[in-house]
Amino acid sequence: MNSKPKVFVTRLIPDAGLDKIKVACDAEVWPEDLSPFYETLVEKVRGLDGLLCLLTERIDGALMDAAGSQLKVISQMAVGYDNIDIPAAKERGIPVGNTPGVLTDATADLTMALLLAGARRIIEGVNYIKDGKWQTWEPMGLLGADLRDATLGIIGLGRIGKAVAERCAGFKLRILAHSPSATQEEAAKVGVTLVDLDELLRESDFVSIHAPLNDSMRYLIDRDALALMKPGAILINTARGGLVDQTALYDALTSGEVSGAALDVTDPEPLPLGEPLLTLPNVIILPHIGSASRRTRDLMASMAADNLLAGLRGEPLPNAVK
Ligand code: GLV
Repeated sequence: MNSKPKVFVTRLIPDAGLDKIKVACDAEVWPEDLSPFYETLVEKVRGLDGLLCLLTERIDGALMDAAGSQLKVISQMAVGYDNIDIPAAKERGIPVGNTPGVLTDATADLTMALLLAGARRIIEGVNYIKDGKWQTWEPMGLLGADLRDATLGIIGLGRIGKAVAERCAGFKLRILAHSPSATQEEAAKVGVTLVDLDELLRESDFVSIHAPLNDSMRYLIDRDALALMKPGAILINTARGGLVDQTALYDALTSGEVSGAALDVTDPEPLPLGEPLLTLPNVIILPHIGSASRRTRDLMASMAADNLLAGLRGEPLPNAVK
């Protein structure tokens, strides 16, 4: 008789996590490159003790009910959890785990890559060569923005926002942040001045978003917010696509209200190829790779496995969503 707990892992994840799960559980791992469709997942979760999921799956109350009342834990391999109905999990007494901390540096590093690439028009430069336009060194060609003495506005001064601030201090940027939960004291430790959102948008040459997505934050950067930004400003988003109204962003970029955008996240993901933002030279879009470094993904998988296994044992999760 197999007494191991039954779990489903919604995609192939690094061995650093999967090996621990396979030893302790009767595990089924979804083998495809794409997540199971919601309807398939509803079938897969029936009778499960634990679910390890990714940000690409919708985990709602109906899915939890389909799993059954023996479901002990939902462990997400990501720090963000806007795809999971947390109140529904709470109502049903199912703890939800996530993977904060281990992806802070990787995401902050990618933010710097986007900041620099946007400021110095890296992708435009690459395409300039590939399109056969490069004829000579140009005194007036592909001029970008300076970082030194420019102002960076960080929206959301949590772990990742602070790590970005620490990196930007080295580039001699002046740094503002809007973050209702941060104190002036902790902001000062990373060289940041807290301001309200309007002031941040008005003053910043670069605006970088590091806030979680929830209902009250959807379209935080809407038409009005974009109108407050400096005409030369660049918007960077490595958080969640739903924080930005992309139609308004397209209009602001084409009217010159803002000068560029560098996005690791979009709404939806993947972005359809017909999406107007993809046609603009001053927009960089990446396929949500903020945490995509080898060590980081190993750590995320390991942490997600630890959360799953603790939940299955009925213990508090090492990293539980509050
Ligand atoms: C990635 O976006 C994450 O939330 O971990």
